[in-house]
Amino acid sequence: QSSQPDPAKLAASRAAVALVEDGMRLGLGTGSTASIMVQVLAERVKAEGLSLRCAATSKATAELAESLGIGIETLDQIGWLDLTIDGADEVDPDLHLIKGGGGAHLREKIVAAASDRMVVIADPGKVVDQLGAFPLPVEVLQFGFESSRKLIRHVLDGQGLGAHDVLQRLRGSEPWVTDEGNFILDLHLGAIDDPVALARGLATVPGVVEHGLFLGMCDLAIIGKPDGGVVELN
Ligand code: A5P
Repeated sequence: QSSQPDPAKLAASRAAVALVEDGMRLGLGTGSTASIMVQVLAERVKAEGLSLRCAATSKATAELAESLGIGIETLDQIGWLDLTIDGADEVDPDLHLIKGGGGAHLREKIVAAASDRMVVIADPGKVVDQLGAFPLPVEVLQFGFESSRKLIRHVLDGQGLGAHDVLQRLRGSEPWVTDEGNFILDLHLGAIDDPVALARGLATVPGVVEHGLFLGMCDLAIIGKPDGGVVELN
C-alpha cells in the first residue's frame, strides 16, 4: 500500500465508511480504492470499538483486512449483508457498472447480490456517459475455454460488436487465474450501447461463469474529488 493514498479515493472511502454502523454485516470490495476503504474502516473499528461481521470479495482483501485487525468470515457464515462497499472500473448515469479490472467480479457480484445495499466508491476518472471504454471482464471456465471464446464472439457478432478484441487476461506470460480457478477474457468493446442485451447474451454461454456488468445493483456511488470533497450519485 502506498503511504500517500490517492486523495479522491480516500475521500470516497471516508464518506462510505461513515455509513457503517455498529453491529453491521459488511461486504468488503476489491481493488486499490477498496483497499483504502478497508484501511479507513480499520481505523474506525479500532477507534470506536465497532463490532462488525465482514465478508471479503477476494483473498487479497481478506488478507488485508485481517492484517489490520478486521475479522473475516465467509459469506455463508454471515448469511446476508447490510452493506457492501466496493470500487468500480466504470460507473454510468444509471449507476450501471463495469467491474472486474482486478479479476474479482465473480465474488464481488455474489457479495453485492447478497447485500441490502451496495455503495460504490470511485475517483472521477471512473464516471462515464456510456460503459465500454474499459474492457469488459468475463470470467470463463478453463474447461472448453476456446469454445467459450468462440461462443462469446457469436454473441458479440449478433449485437454488432463483432469487430472487437476478445483477449485472454495474462499475469506476465501465464494465464490469469481467478480466486475460483477460472480464466478471464477482456472484451475490448469501446462502447456498449445496450448493456442489458449484452449481459443477457453473455449469460447464454455455458462456460461463462460471470461477466463484469453490474446492472441495477449499485444503490449509491460516492465519487471522491482530489480536493477531499465527494459527489454522490443515486
Ligand atoms: C476488482 O475486480 C474490480 O472490480 C475493482 O473493484 C475495480 O477494478 C476497481 O479497482 P480500483 O479501485 O483499483 O480502480
